[in-house]
Amino acid sequence: MIAQRPRPVARQIATPITDGAVARLTDGDVALIEERLEGDPAILYEMSDAATRKRLLLNFAAAYHVGPVLERTGVIAAMPPEDVHSMARGAVVAGGDFHIADLVFDALAHAGKSVQEGATVLDFGASSGRVLRAVAAGRPDLDCVGCDPNPEAMQWAQEHLQGQRYFVSPLRPPLDLADGSVQMAYAISIWSHFAERPAIEWLAEMHRIIEPGGALVLTTHGFDCLTTLLGRNQVTRHTAAEAARAMLQGRHHFVDVFGEAGDWGVKDTGWGNAYLTLEWLVARTAEQWSLLLDWPGALDQAQDVIVLERR
Ligand SMILES: C[S@@+](CC[C@H](N)C(=O)[O-])C[C@H]1O[C@@H](n2cnc3c(N)ncnc32)[C@H](O)[C@@H]1O
Repeated sequence: MIAQRPRPVARQIATPITDGAVARLTDGDVALIEERLEGDPAILYEMSDAATRKRLLLNFAAAYHVGPVLERTGVIAAMPPEDVHSMARGAVVAGGDFHIADLVFDALAHAGKSVQEGATVLDFGASSGRVLRAVAAGRPDLDCVGCDPNPEAMQWAQEHLQGQRYFVSPLRPPLDLADGSVQMAYAISIWSHFAERPAIEWLAEMHRIIEPGGALVLTTHGFDCLTTLLGRNQVTRHTAAEAARAMLQGRHHFVDVFGEAGDWGVKDTGWGNAYLTLEWLVARTAEQWSLLLDWPGALDQAQDVIVLERR
């Protein structure tokens, strides 16, 4: 039982991935980007703190196709078209979501884990690569692999995000990856959608593909997120109450929200919205995984960030 948990707060995330790419910028590059800014992007940049500014430099370099910067940093300008799945669009995420990439690697660092040069990193449920493309720019030494059951997203990413590998994953394990072939995997907004059975089955699959001592970073909807989700009308009062009741009783709670249409055409009865506590997770993983870190609400104050170490 984990007795003490911090309240979710807007956490200041360090910039380990962003810094990897920004370190390759020259002063002239920064000036080249800044002189392109006008209107809302200029105001946003002006108002932002130092960490956000660094990330925005990379995003705006991609949005405005600042060639020398893209060459030096490895940031890729291509953006998925409207009919290809992406969790975010527009200039502030052009080139990739550096904030979430930083969040993953900052959580790992706080958990005492480093990702060694040459390591294979898996983005499980990668969509069209918004996070993995940022990781690849910040850590070009890594072998970056992404998978997702959405074939159009995988095709787009494979064709446009050079240097990264993407493949279509099945709705149930196994993945086409050898035992222990991955050093670190992360899954953003994936266990927040699995029904109980696939949630457990996919944890076992992550255990198979991650090497002993490797890490899994995942995000979940837990207790601390319910107020945020209610405040944003992303969950009904009824669902929040049902989810809270289930979690109080130590149960996993699943709601089918995609129905017949599926999630962008990916039809899976085991995929909807899911709510679970850290206690639920630990009770089902303690033999295979060690809990290293739990940051309630650290993903946009709407999902908990959890780091597990593969035993
Ligand atoms: C909320 S999005 C998150 C995407 C990505 N991780 C990100 O943060 O940009 C969920 C992703 O999971 C994928 N997905 C849908 N059904 C799935 C399933 N049964 N198993 C694994 N992933 C699934 C979707 O195609 C989508 O890309």
